Amino acid sequence: MSENISEKRINSLVPPHEMEKAFGFIRKMRALNEKRALETGTDLKAHVLTFGCQQNEADSEKLAGMARSMGYEITSEPERADLILVNTCAVREHAEQKALSIIGQFKHLKNKKSTLMIGVCGCMVTQKHRSEEIRRSYPYVDFIFGTSSLHRMPQLLYEKTVKGKRLFAPDEDEYLVAEGLNIERASDYRAWVSIMYGCNNFCSYCIVPYVRGRERSRRMEDIVTEVEELAEKGYKDITLLGQNVNSYAKGMEYDFADLLDRLAKIEGDFKLRFMTSHPKDASRKLIDTMAKHDKIAKHFHLPLQSGSDAMLKAMNRHYDKAQYLDTVRYIREKMPDIAITTDIIVGFPGETEQDFKDTLDMLREVRYDMIFSFIYSPRKGTPASEMEQIDEKVKGERFSRLLEVQNQISLEKNLPFVGKTVSVLCDGVSKNNDALLSGRTEGNKIVFFEGDATDEGKYLNIKIDRAEAFALYGEKIK
Ligand code: 5AD
Ligand code: SF4
Repeated sequence: MSENISEKRINSLVPPHEMEKAFGFIRKMRALNEKRALETGTDLKAHVLTFGCQQNEADSEKLAGMARSMGYEITSEPERADLILVNTCAVREHAEQKALSIIGQFKHLKNKKSTLMIGVCGCMVTQKHRSEEIRRSYPYVDFIFGTSSLHRMPQLLYEKTVKGKRLFAPDEDEYLVAEGLNIERASDYRAWVSIMYGCNNFCSYCIVPYVRGRERSRRMEDIVTEVEELAEKGYKDITLLGQNVNSYAKGMEYDFADLLDRLAKIEGDFKLRFMTSHPKDASRKLIDTMAKHDKIAKHFHLPLQSGSDAMLKAMNRHYDKAQYLDTVRYIREKMPDIAITTDIIVGFPGETEQDFKDTLDMLREVRYDMIFSFIYSPRKGTPASEMEQIDEKVKGERFSRLLEVQNQISLEKNLPFVGKTVSVLCDGVSKNNDALLSGRTEGNKIVFFEGDATDEGKYLNIKIDRAEAFALYGEKIK
């Protein structure tokens, strides 16, 4: 696709008549469901299952919002649901296999309750070979829709319910931004706000540009209104989302730094975060804006992917090691205490032992607070999947070595917190240890402490008494 076409598509909204149509189907479905609820004496229920990244979490909140508008109660139990929506991920093979396996397990629910409707959406089914696979091998899936077609879900559901027509709605050629959908937020103190969709970068390993289309940004005024409403409701932690968040509004008269600057002036006791940034778009202006505002959390997630210039080139990343280090140096010069985290891929095609050692050297040089590491997974249709692949054993062995190096660094970065008091936004009872509560610092470090479940959603002062590579432990103080 030429640059010209992609520029034109920036910021295009789904036309009002299309949105009206979507709202019309929501009303029709609601009327049907109210009738059914009267007949059966119980409310209908919807279960939304999400795989993958925060963008998918945010999309699922819109799906749940639409389901609620159609009269469904949201349930965490698929067994009780009348509507199941599975929002899939395609970024690695493992995520696809997990989603397929769960969709497979839903067959017995459909056998038990023939009125159950199952819809599948997200990045996995936006790939043609996967939507074909579902059509062929999962006949009990009622409808499928692509990542840019969330607002079409009520129509697909309605038509399947009324006409029994099994529908597959891949994304139409144009990728548009749908405004005005109801959002059923999973939390009442942490919120996702999608500010842009799609990606133009075509990193050679990545499926995202193929399944989420070209970049298009929401209008600044729409985002400001959404964040103002969240701040007013008392949200404490607001994350701006985009596949390439810091290239927000390219081709428009303002940029991502301007947006942050505007949002940071909104009244309220909240922090702003953003993800995921591309190092090539981490401008001085953006870093200066972060440094200027207390409301912007001092955490920068800056995916490096590899510490080898040859690999960065093969990955089509558009920066080299020196440029990346220069950005990190400037970030730390302006914000010495900032937490920096990254994503690393090991075992990219052609990665030599020396390339891998260059990555380890970058970990030692940057000293990240935390890394998210991934074993390269070939994605059908991407250039890297056609390159000569590395032996799985070598990939696994490098992955372990990477973790070993980083665990030591993470521990060394966490130890100085012992004896200090940090502000933590409490997330309630820990999922891994129900005797403790957990929360996150401004730098997004996880902290465990004793407390009361009613602390959830509050900022607490925690005095740290123990540090591990992945977590801090402490005590609540007044
Ligand atoms: N294999 C492994 N990891 C991948 N990522 C993206 N595509 C792949 C792939 N094909 C990783 C990148 C990205 C993160 C979200 O997932 O590190 O930053
Ligand atoms: Fe994928 Fe690269 Fe776009 Fe991130 S910037 S979504 S890694 S293509």
